[in-house]
Amino acid sequence: MDNVTQRKEVLKLAVFASGSGSDLQSIIDAVERGDLQIEISILVCNNPDAFALERARSHGIPSALIDHRGQSREEFEQEILSQLEKYHIDLIALAGFMRILTPEFVSRWSGRIVNIHPALLPSFPGVHAHRDAIAFGVKVSGLTIHFVDEGVDHGPIIFQKSVEVLEGDTEETLGERVLEQEHIWYPKVLQWIAEGRVHLDGRRVKVEGD
Ligand code: GRF
Repeated sequence: MDNVTQRKEVLKLAVFASGSGSDLQSIIDAVERGDLQIEISILVCNNPDAFALERARSHGIPSALIDHRGQSREEFEQEILSQLEKYHIDLIALAGFMRILTPEFVSRWSGRIVNIHPALLPSFPGVHAHRDAIAFGVKVSGLTIHFVDEGVDHGPIIFQKSVEVLEGDTEETLGERVLEQEHIWYPKVLQWIAEGRVHLDGRRVKVEGD
């Protein structure tokens, strides 16, 4: 069984975001409260208008704005890779990052990229999870925190939390309740990883002490 990250003093985390960055904020808050012992070394962002950039700036976190437009996927990822190297990154947390990473990138970082998805995978992958869940008529949705592999929203699952779908829910109302849970659970799961308690065995993930 593989220990996902070697235990070391403090893991260096890169957060990748493209939008509002509320998940990033929950990670920042947890670090500042002392609940998450990790260093947020850099924000990687592909969107110049993302509010995530402002959040990083106001908390003194360096950010790399790498616009994907006008360059090939390989060039885009090469720029990201050099930032990861520069900051000696151990772990990547995708937090609303709206670009799909190539299989080459993912395999290079295998077992060291996590993502949060706002549905109970393998149901409702993709960018319209809440809309799809409501349209399907499920009574329960939720969130999934998983390792990233070559498939989209497909990698080994670390943690899932269910959220009830209520009568009359819209994409927005369900999204808000799921997001509340994301903000609680993403930092917690990152802390488990930082403590060296998360082990990957094929598709299965074992969380020590769970
Ligand atoms: C969340 O729905 C998360 O599950 C998905 O992207 C959204 C994050 O949004 N991966 P924000 O930019 O962190 O507010």
